[in-house]
Amino acid sequence: MAKQGEIVVGLDIGTTKVCAVVAEVKGGVAEGGRLRGDEFSEIEILGVGNVPCKGLRKGVVANVASTTESIRQAIEEAQNMAGVEIRTVFAGIAGSHVRAQSSNGVVAIASNEVTRSDVERVLENARAIPIPTDRQILHVLPCEYLVDTQDGIREPVGMSGVRLEVKAQLITAARSCVENVIKCAERVGLTVADVVLEPLASAEAVLTEDEREIGVAVVDIGGGTTDVILYVDGGIVAANVIPVGGMSVTSDIAAGLRTPMAEAERLKHARGCALGRMVPDDEEMEVPGVGGYPARRVPRRVLADIIEPRVEEIFAVVRRQLEESGYLEQLSAGVVLCGGAVLMEGMTELGEEILGMPVRRGYPVGTRGLTDLTHGPQFATAVGLARYGAQAIFTAQAREDEPVVVPASKADAKAPGTTSDRPGFWGWIKAAF
Ligand SMILES: Nc1ncnc2c1ncn2[C@@H]1O[C@H](COP(=O)(O)OP(=O)(O)OP(=O)(O)O)[C@@H](O)[C@H]1O
Ligand SMILES: [Mg+2]
Repeated sequence: MAKQGEIVVGLDIGTTKVCAVVAEVKGGVAEGGRLRGDEFSEIEILGVGNVPCKGLRKGVVANVASTTESIRQAIEEAQNMAGVEIRTVFAGIAGSHVRAQSSNGVVAIASNEVTRSDVERVLENARAIPIPTDRQILHVLPCEYLVDTQDGIREPVGMSGVRLEVKAQLITAARSCVENVIKCAERVGLTVADVVLEPLASAEAVLTEDEREIGVAVVDIGGGTTDVILYVDGGIVAANVIPVGGMSVTSDIAAGLRTPMAEAERLKHARGCALGRMVPDDEEMEVPGVGGYPARRVPRRVLADIIEPRVEEIFAVVRRQLEESGYLEQLSAGVVLCGGAVLMEGMTELGEEILGMPVRRGYPVGTRGLTDLTHGPQFATAVGLARYGAQAIFTAQAREDEPVVVPASKADAKAPGTTSDRPGFWGWIKAAF
């Protein structure tokens, strides 16, 4: 059944860069159909294209032409490196237009034993709720299934019963933002197999099964957004996108040190620290002037004192969201940080102080091949998108291999509302996540 050798491409269209990761599906489906991210290697990275992008604002496409051009370059780079032609991609989406809400679905089990088709129908049922016409459903993410009176089920296929229920998180996004992502990719001649919530992809790349079980939050601090996703008991319980990231830190440095933006960015990378007290008092650095003013020497501590309040503010918003979710106490595995901004010294230390729990940096796992090109928290989304694609292919295969079952009964129908806007093969893949 396994589709070994299949090519999957993750396309992360970020606020500062476009990153395309071409990978070959290697196999390795763990229990419950989920790919394993620890000792198993399921995708082999064949090529990576990483180019700057200026077409987005706070995670949302704001300039189609320049975003398209960055995608073209990234795809070309990845294609040349991998030696394969790229036609289909799994693209990421973020931005503060993304929302998560709870939804339940319930169906009668067609033949006394739950099949994948029953699972598909119950997820379809969970997505059949009215949503405004300017929004669309991105994902129906199952938290738990219930078969008759038994709850807490992760993988219901094969269980006996007459009634299947799902408690799910519905992720919705502004239709126009999704369409713009697809439009940019299509202008380069690509087909978008799926548009995937970026923190979901990042989590796919950096988390272990144990962390998901124990309870964990992934916080991806990129250039323009900070994406948050929460896992408790193995399922997603909340997700959010905050429209602030590392670019705000750079702007603060440029204003605070009166230096050009490019110099502020360079100083942040080379000398930045998120926690002022970690910087020795005697360290100095040269700060180029702006508008004809000469360069001057400034204590490095001054730079850290500019960075710290902004990063503190970002973590404080994250903390508030964790509290408001009601799951703060259940995040025993703490927080995994990814995104380029977390490369800065002091990020995990400040994160632990503000969030009050263990914090680690998340590096993509579960890959082999050209892993040195994607070994960094800033590549979590692109690698995760490729892994998501591999997972989608496996799950779709598993479904195709399953015998056809009795179709849904009328009794399953919900009150009239929105039904799936993505029927067919990929529509099913969408519903499975
Ligand atoms: N070594 C470093 N030290 C500090 N900041 C860094 C470092 N490397 C990258 N960054 C910052 O990381 C940010 C980019 O991260 P990333 O590539 O994850 O963002 P993105 O995916 O393009 O944006 P987004 O996800 O917000 O749409 C930039 O603000 C950049 O300045
Ligand atoms: Mg990003």
